Amino acid sequence: MSDALLGVYGARDLTLVRGEGSHVWDDAGRRYLDCVSGVAVNAVGHGNPSVLLAIAEQAGKFLHASNLFVLPSQRDLASRLAEISGFDAVFFSNSGTEANEGAIKFARRFFDLAGQPEKNEIVSFTGSFHGRTYAAMAATGQEKIYQGFGPMPRGFVHVLANDVAALKAAVGPNTAAVLFEPVQAEGGVVNMEPAMAEALREVQARGVLLIADEIQTGLWRTGTLLGSDALCIRPDLVTLAKPLGGGLPLGAVLVRKPIAEALHVGDHGSTFGGNPVACAAGLAVLGILSDEAFQKGYQERIALLRGELEKLIERKSKAGVPVGTLRGRGFLIGMRWTGAADSVHGDLGALQKRLREAGVLVHRAGADVLRLLPPLTFSRQDIADLMGAMEEAVK
Ligand SMILES: Cc1ncc(COP(=O)(O)O)c(C=O)c1O
Repeated sequence: MSDALLGVYGARDLTLVRGEGSHVWDDAGRRYLDCVSGVAVNAVGHGNPSVLLAIAEQAGKFLHASNLFVLPSQRDLASRLAEISGFDAVFFSNSGTEANEGAIKFARRFFDLAGQPEKNEIVSFTGSFHGRTYAAMAATGQEKIYQGFGPMPRGFVHVLANDVAALKAAVGPNTAAVLFEPVQAEGGVVNMEPAMAEALREVQARGVLLIADEIQTGLWRTGTLLGSDALCIRPDLVTLAKPLGGGLPLGAVLVRKPIAEALHVGDHGSTFGGNPVACAAGLAVLGILSDEAFQKGYQERIALLRGELEKLIERKSKAGVPVGTLRGRGFLIGMRWTGAADSVHGDLGALQKRLREAGVLVHRAGADVLRLLPPLTFSRQDIADLMGAMEEAVK
């Protein structure tokens, strides 16, 4: 049947049929350690009992009813998100790209209502990824994403990532917002440097809104609730998606009061956004991840896994294997390959294949970065199994 699918995802040669915890199984019954996690979606692993129970309970009530009515799971998830994040209001979407579209609309509306409609430019960074719809694509700082799909919407400016002077030069009287990822995830797991975080705080102090795209970094993927927390950035708007719905499609825009006050009935909306089943799953996900005991164990496991990977890199580098640096934060992990540009791709492809043969699924980010996105529930045993496979596969 896969022949009838539009070929936008490339050749796929692995059929997954089920998952449990940190593992998935293929159609031949082979088990794999899942360090892709649905590209950062399955933060609590596969088949988490409290997520499944929440889904079943809500599904037994109704699957959908409409945003014309109060939907308890949606109301409760919004309250819980506001409570843990300190933001004042939440809009629910179905996906990350829609959350970014919403955030861009909200930022522009804020200045329009303030009598400054000329403030409508969105500044973002090269190497960023913000999604595949038009505004999100225009904000994305990678040519391969938008080339050939023009014309792009106006009002988007790209600045070299981590180039403070370029940011300062780009921000002007027409800038509404700077849209940024605390760690560029799709763009090669590139951390924002502290100097850029400081520049963003300065820009914000001059009245420019900060929109943090935390679709991949948020909800503790990078070790803190938001990736922005580790950079001491207090964004005006935050977009979330990926793990929020526990595997069901759900995105969110968190906004502070002044922005919430600029949005009125009919300004934005979605038929499916904030689906009650997805929101019920989301409440279960937050319940698990925000638990104090879970967080303590998670921080320890982050230190353990990142420490083991550092040691592996050091050992392999000494043995002449071109594994470069460890990137990212928390369980958003990049391993940059430092071989010659031409050979890197082949090396990485071969490594990915060897890891799969050893029973581990991993992913890439950019041409030369191996990306590991284990579930945040990844156990000490899973870490030991991963390291065993890596030791063998990194040759
Ligand atoms: C940082 C970031 N922003 C936006 C998106 C788009 O999200 P979605 O695929 O849910 O539309 C992604 C997806 O990978 C992402 O990583």
